[in-house]
Amino acid sequence: MIQQTLILIKPDGLKKSLTGNVLTRLSETKLDIVAASIVKVSRDLAEKHYMSLKDKPFFDDLLKYIMGEYHKKKVMALVYWGEDAIQKVRAICGSTNPEEADPVSIRGSYGRITTKGVYENVIHASANEQDAEREIKLWFQPDNIIVDLYPTKTVKEATPRRVWA
Ligand code: TYD
Repeated sequence: MIQQTLILIKPDGLKKSLTGNVLTRLSETKLDIVAASIVKVSRDLAEKHYMSLKDKPFFDDLLKYIMGEYHKKKVMALVYWGEDAIQKVRAICGSTNPEEADPVSIRGSYGRITTKGVYENVIHASANEQDAEREIKLWFQPDNIIVDLYPTKTVKEATPRRVWA
């Protein structure tokens, strides 16, 4: 089944100069990159992305982590597209807990648990098709993805927008 999945290289990945290593590992999937962007993560975006975890004790630290407060770095967001994209990417990422993740997975190789108990696990990848749709629509606008993944509509914008001069 052709699928799309959202990947985030988290601020610890950028801080540790792991972007290249992570993309190289992901290239093993032979999937297509159909969108890529460096994102300054707002609290609103962070809260929406992790909304299912809002009752967890680690939620506030998780928001600070993804917003780059601990590493003073941004997030690289990508959309990968192709056959069984979700499962292929999750397999290379490894388990959520970097200490339990397969040592050759991305999280097993590069992740750690901080003394505060936050899992700094370098990468996010959508867990299923429903999450992928919700997450891709949060992180990207249709014009910034090179294939049509979901239905779109055209709106006349009331607010001024910056364009190239
Ligand atoms: P979750 O969505 O459960 O896992 P995944 O990222 O594998 O889909 O959790 C989201 C993030 O929350 C996870 O990547 C790291 C963080 N986290 C913790 O810091 N501590 C925890 O105990 C859990 C379960 C997650």
